Amino acid sequence: MEVLPTIPAASVDCVITDPPYILAAGSSNHQNGKTGTWADMMNAAYWYSAWYQQVWRVLKNTGSFWTFCNWKTMPIIQKAAFDAQISIQSVLVWDKKWIGPGGHQGLRPRYENVALLTKENFRIPDRSTPDIWESLWSAIKPTGHPAEKPVDLIAKIIQACELQSGSVVLDPFMGSGTTGVASMECDCEFIGSEQDTKWFKVAETRIQAAQSQGAKWFSARNPTPHEGGRGYRPPTTGESGAQISFIGEGG
Ligand SMILES: C[S@@+](CC[C@H](N)C(=O)[O-])C[C@H]1O[C@@H](n2cnc3c(N)ncnc32)[C@H](O)[C@@H]1O
Repeated sequence: MEVLPTIPAASVDCVITDPPYILAAGSSNHQNGKTGTWADMMNAAYWYSAWYQQVWRVLKNTGSFWTFCNWKTMPIIQKAAFDAQISIQSVLVWDKKWIGPGGHQGLRPRYENVALLTKENFRIPDRSTPDIWESLWSAIKPTGHPAEKPVDLIAKIIQACELQSGSVVLDPFMGSGTTGVASMECDCEFIGSEQDTKWFKVAETRIQAAQSQGAKWFSARNPTPHEGGRGYRPPTTGESGAQISFIGEGG
């Protein structure tokens, strides 16, 4: 978290991130143990709140902040946002169209969430955008990162914001680099950091490959008729002028 303070204020259009869920705090039902208590969750919220404040500082006043979470981490998110004096605008339900393990008593989980926090001048361009989106989750992770998210889901977020070519997307917890890949596909600039050197290298390779493929999607500034759906164009080679910045612990 030394990286975020080095980014200039009001320089980023969109933050899309999938932070560590701090599972010891968020996933345990133990009330009396040494981990998984309400106090642990509040400690996690303290850390979340510190980087939320940095995210808020670097975002432009037209910007938006999308952060993955689930029902177990929702109290952490809410406390962190409250402490950072930021309000949660919406909580997107990501329907994975796949069911995870449920144990003997639980239901099979099929969704995760993405909380949306917005700066004062952010506007969702399509006001009919719903808060449930489908995006197929695969148990097979192409990069092997256990928390890898689908590129198309992140690309949908960028498209929902109708970010223009050259807009700056930031992911402080980039893992295998999915947000960076989606940013390249949408012709956005990307700033990412990752503390684990192994995943940093994976992300770097993956994002550079996506950059050399060129943008797949038209941006609002570059509208052209298309055949494959809203904003879609077939992949082209080397057309993207998008810039990538890799900074931080893994670099
Ligand atoms: C949930 S994963 C992100 C996965 C990513 N969305 C993807 O598709 O691959 C969170 C990542 O944050 C990294 N991380 C944890 N703490 C960090 C910190 N303080 N600074 C930077 N990265 C951190 C972890 O190493 C992990 O790779």
